[in-house]
Amino acid sequence: MSRGTVTVAPAVPGDGAELARLEAACFAHPRSEAALRAEIAQPERYLLLVCKWQGQMEGYIGLEYVLDEGYITDLAVFSKYRRHGVGTALLRELERRGRELGLRFLTLEVRPSNAAALGLYRGMGYREEGRRRDFYTDPREDALLLTKYLKNDNTERI
Ligand SMILES: CC(C)(COP(=O)(O)OP(=O)(O)OC[C@H]1O[C@@H](n2cnc3c(N)ncnc32)[C@H](O)[C@@H]1OP(=O)(O)O)[C@@H](O)C(=O)NCCC(=O)NCCS
Repeated sequence: MSRGTVTVAPAVPGDGAELARLEAACFAHPRSEAALRAEIAQPERYLLLVCKWQGQMEGYIGLEYVLDEGYITDLAVFSKYRRHGVGTALLRELERRGRELGLRFLTLEVRPSNAAALGLYRGMGYREEGRRRDFYTDPREDALLLTKYLKNDNTERI
């Protein structure tokens, strides 16, 4: 990115309020600041990365992991910062850290109507591996399951 000082780093407890504001701006069922702070306090199970530009939060990505399996729980960028590579930078750093953690794959759910997220994930090598019927509410919609294998010996499956 050529926008000056951009950082992608693990969230700290002081990011909780801004994270809650971002969730409220982007999702029908946003989590509370307390719930987000609880995740930040459990780095052995959750990884929340925030992207900041000159100290201002632009977006974040959330991962829940167990053993060698990673589940991307959230990805959101404030609307005024979209289409500047923030989502890509967050996902790329999450994958780097996922490899360091020894994760075999990353998986996630996404609405079939979410062209922006689908464009981002497909462009980064995530492939459709299934569909959950009526997974989402407000509005009701199926979820597509997308997965990317991180280890070299599984790349043929991508
Ligand atoms: C999805 C989201 C995180 C993308 O963040 P972003 O910072 O704008 O993404 P990037 O700038 O890194 O975009 C990377 C690529 O994704 C695709 N993409 C991003 N936004 C798109 C859009 N509105 N329409 C079509 N493709 C899009 C493009 O291929 C883009 O590359 P390009 O800009 O060179 O064409 C953002 O739109 C968002 O926060 N949406 C609301 C929350 C949400 O839906 N989260 C996902 C839940 S699964």
